[in-house]
Amino acid sequence: MAALRFLYDCDPGADDALAMLLALGRPDALDMIAVTCVAGNVGLEPVVNNARRILELCGRQDIPVYSGAARPIMASRGRLSIMHGSDGLAGSTLPKPTMPLADGHAANAVSRIARSEGKLHICATGPLTNLALALLLDPDLPDFISAITIMGGAAFCPGNTTPLAEFNFAVDPHAAAIVFDSCIPITMLGLDVTRQATVTEDMIGQVQAIDNPVAREAAHLLINYGAKDPCLHDPAAIAWMLKPEMFDTKQAHVSISTDSGPAAGQVIAAVSERHLDGRSPNCAIVTGVDAEEFRRVFVDALN
Ligand code: BDR
Ligand code: CA
Repeated sequence: MAALRFLYDCDPGADDALAMLLALGRPDALDMIAVTCVAGNVGLEPVVNNARRILELCGRQDIPVYSGAARPIMASRGRLSIMHGSDGLAGSTLPKPTMPLADGHAANAVSRIARSEGKLHICATGPLTNLALALLLDPDLPDFISAITIMGGAAFCPGNTTPLAEFNFAVDPHAAAIVFDSCIPITMLGLDVTRQATVTEDMIGQVQAIDNPVAREAAHLLINYGAKDPCLHDPAAIAWMLKPEMFDTKQAHVSISTDSGPAAGQVIAAVSERHLDGRSPNCAIVTGVDAEEFRRVFVDALN
């Protein structure tokens, strides 16, 4: 089967970087055709640098990197994560990037690439600002997007940023609301599943035993980021694209709270007939993973 062509929208971020390493390690299955960056875990400048540092590490300077939104739609500045270190890559020793950024804003790139592909798969593991802007700029865009795989949200469990909301949706709840309202088929890998997709000592040992520069960087990220947050949030989204049969899902109608205060970014998931109230599901919420198999897929990709 041909590799799945997809655009990766992200905010690297140590776990976004690990997600890139996982995807780039499986060119037989996944073809990352562009990277669009959004401020999130750290500011936009380190994010676009980190995306390029990772691509250069993998010798994939052929993949264009676009810079995107520097702030959420309705807030003058985002909320940074303390999990990823000040550079966003857990103090990585990777050199500064030398590859240039691609011309144009990420939101325009999403629209242009989707239209030229005809049907584009998107994987998004940061705040959804770029995708929301693209949808606002190009109202017919949903016709050109086959599906979006999203890491974000917490449907049936507490948040990690407020008691009710997960980081990516809490940073830009309005963007998340726009994307979930778009009628594009969405698979949501939120904290419900990513809290099961954890790094273990055994997994770190297996990665350390692999003798190549990509695996060495992965081990650094797994050790330093994993000490603060053992959940491999963003790699779980890539793993879903690689092997969906490892996961359990529930169909739901998801809307996102744009209230101010602690409910901002909360996932409101209607699952039962009564709560659906005549609406069709707009999302597959991923609720479980075979964690051992997930770790195996990750380690194999680094080999
Ligand atoms: C999400 O927030 C970020 O800190 C991670 O990169 C991940 O995308 C987890 O809540
Ligand atoms: Ca992320």
